[in-house]
Amino acid sequence: MASNLAPRIFRRAFRPARITSQSQCRYFTASARMGSDALQVHRDSPENNAKIPFKFTAQNNKLIDEILKRYPPQYKKAAVMPILDLGQRQHGFTSLSVMNEVARILEMPPMRVYEVATFYTMYNRTPVGKFHLQVCTTTPCQLGGCGSDKIVKAIEGHLGISAGHTTKDGLFTYVEVECLGACVNAPMVQINDDFYEDLTPESIVSLLTALQESAKAVPPTEGGKGALTGEDPNVKSGAEVGKDSGRIYQKDGVKIPSPGPMSGRKTCENIKGLTNLTSPMWSTEVFRKDL
Ligand code: FES
Repeated sequence: MASNLAPRIFRRAFRPARITSQSQCRYFTASARMGSDALQVHRDSPENNAKIPFKFTAQNNKLIDEILKRYPPQYKKAAVMPILDLGQRQHGFTSLSVMNEVARILEMPPMRVYEVATFYTMYNRTPVGKFHLQVCTTTPCQLGGCGSDKIVKAIEGHLGISAGHTTKDGLFTYVEVECLGACVNAPMVQINDDFYEDLTPESIVSLLTALQESAKAVPPTEGGKGALTGEDPNVKSGAEVGKDSGRIYQKDGVKIPSPGPMSGRKTCENIKGLTNLTSPMWSTEVFRKDL
């Protein structure tokens, strides 16, 4: 009996010491340093500090009223994303003053607005060029068509900048991004609001050249300070100038290729044409027994 009890007594006696010796703190590992040169925190700069005044234009104030009508008055802070987007379109980027003005309009703490703007990558918190090139380099774009590596090389060669930088003339900011959801037409790039797909090194260079020409031909407008130029009175849309004619800058007739696939296909149909269901469609008068 005594021999049975001895180990248990022995264990109990040493239990407090054993617990104390066990580490009571949780280990954590710091995440790897980000390889990007984009600063994840705000630093005051001449073009981005809280002293720079920002007010929405009368036209955008009307739009804000429309947006706010979509939400119950007690939840108007739910409109933070579309109104931030509007601010970015007007100002060219989501500056501290834009965020503060949105917070004032929506009666929410500025920190809550900063949290949204820093979480979503579509808000540019530093100035970007007139044309914001977002090149998809995720696996399907890397493998599809000629591959995004060649597109990246062509862009870097033509613009003379690497990812994350803006050209000296302020026309192009070029960044690499993850999948933009147009993998079936890989490789692709988003320029401002438009997708250009089925790219080749030649077609991306001709596109960039056309954009450079258009920038020379069209003087900058008040609404065209940043990448998201919004309504540019100098530009007529394809719908205005005729279907499939692309966006035509009226001055000097500089033509920008239409967004979409640049390979000639309309959407994501087989580039070699139909491979099945090739027989003529039956009319309403034809029945299976007639064939
Ligand atoms: S991987 Fe490039 S759009 Fe999806």
